[in-house]
Amino acid sequence: MKLVVIGTGYVGLVTGVCLAKFGNRVVCVDTDASRVETLRGGKVPFYEPGIEEMMNRNVAEGRLSFATSAGEALAEGETAEVCFITVGTPSAPDGSADLSAVEGAARDVGRSLRGPLLVVVKSTVPVGTHERVKAWVSEELKKRGQEPEFLMVSNPEFLREGAALRDFLEPDRVVLGVESPEAAERMKSLYSFLDSGRLLFMDLRSAEMAKYASNAMLATRISFMNEMANICERVGADVDHVRRAMGRDSRIGPSFLYAGCGYGGSCFPKDVRALRDFASASGYHPRILNAVEEVNENQKDVVFEKLALHLGDLSDKTVAIWGLSFKPKTSDVREAPAHRLILSLLEARARVQAHDPRAIEETRSALGDHRGLLYMHDLYDAVNGADALAVMTEWDIYRQPDLLRVRKLLKNPLMVDGRNLYSLAEMQRLGFDYLSIGRPSILGAGS
Ligand SMILES: NC(=O)c1ccc[n+]([C@@H]2O[C@H](COP(=O)([O-])OP(=O)(O)OC[C@H]3O[C@@H](n4cnc5c(N)ncnc54)[C@H](O)[C@@H]3O)[C@@H](O)[C@H]2O)c1
Repeated sequence: MKLVVIGTGYVGLVTGVCLAKFGNRVVCVDTDASRVETLRGGKVPFYEPGIEEMMNRNVAEGRLSFATSAGEALAEGETAEVCFITVGTPSAPDGSADLSAVEGAARDVGRSLRGPLLVVVKSTVPVGTHERVKAWVSEELKKRGQEPEFLMVSNPEFLREGAALRDFLEPDRVVLGVESPEAAERMKSLYSFLDSGRLLFMDLRSAEMAKYASNAMLATRISFMNEMANICERVGADVDHVRRAMGRDSRIGPSFLYAGCGYGGSCFPKDVRALRDFASASGYHPRILNAVEEVNENQKDVVFEKLALHLGDLSDKTVAIWGLSFKPKTSDVREAPAHRLILSLLEARARVQAHDPRAIEETRSALGDHRGLLYMHDLYDAVNGADALAVMTEWDIYRQPDLLRVRKLLKNPLMVDGRNLYSLAEMQRLGFDYLSIGRPSILGAGS
């Protein structure tokens, strides 16, 4: 089967590469010519474990290619049967989902569509967007005086960056909103590598909503636990014990119960905002979603507040930061809590020595150059001579570092751990002043 995938970000490239692996002929399209150039050169422009090897194997075996326009991809060779739309849907300034890339992709499809096609929207889009996509495609077809048949499918993606290939190939479920039994049959054959029990068919609006509801639920759990952590700190409880007790309750379960320095990334923040926006537009006042976002915004400042409280005037201080990506195993820095911290520190005229195993270049291009901001390629160099270390991402290399060496390199033995990576007893034994999230503080070493 020939497939076209529009957008070569995390979702598009993973979709294209994985479906090519099963023998389909896939053309991945991106309007960013330099990105296409990079992909044609055998390089993936972001870090995702395993994808580069799988991509290059598919290219070498002739099943995967890249194009800079949907027109070129749809026109060349055999007629495409399925076209995925996997472009970004970032927040607009008012919090709604910016659908301009989706509209661009839909119109490109309408301008080039030749035969019957399944138009599958994988981007996360507000409920009802499939109707707008259908209208955009139809408008372009009408301009050409053509009427090839096309069917809409909503197939929101649930992959997690850092585990994207496995999540695509072995998903918990595949949500498929379809408008006809024929579309359902065709999606079933596309996903025939999965046990059919994992395919959940439904109407298109419910499929679009299922994605937002899932992300909002996960964001809610995070904000809920951050709120519990903030209360624990004030009443002398330890959120780690509380988490373990809660997670053993089969009605609650252990996932997504970790307190920390707030959620970031390319999905939760914008999806909670977009859901709030279209809920409000529908006449409903979303109380829980407002609170989830408010708690998260507050949580992103917690590490800075702890540093300021314990270091006092920051203008002559140097702070080391471990972790710049919004979570481990990805170079994605969109809305990363570390960025908020860096900007707050720079505003307070502190110097920053930042380390990350994968996301330095991404951070540099997101934040630009600042006189007080140094990027270090070694985690111990970042700590050298600093007045404090802040841990912002739970990369594996930060889990068991040489903590004694860290303490000796720090000018002042203060660590603020935004991810609760280390044991309180160990940090006390090593002589740190150690502040984490929702756990008792260890103080006295630096005084
Ligand atoms: N990243 C994730 O973990 C994840 C997971 C699930 C769902 N999603 C959703 O999937 C969608 C895509 O996310 P992403 O992170 O892969 O996006 P991304 O921002 O990483 O990539 C999108 C790509 O689309 C390209 N593009 C934009 N307009 C185009 C057009 N008209 N034609 C061709 N290419 C075009 C851009 O140049 C870019 O390379 C979003 O709606 C997102 O919410 C993302």
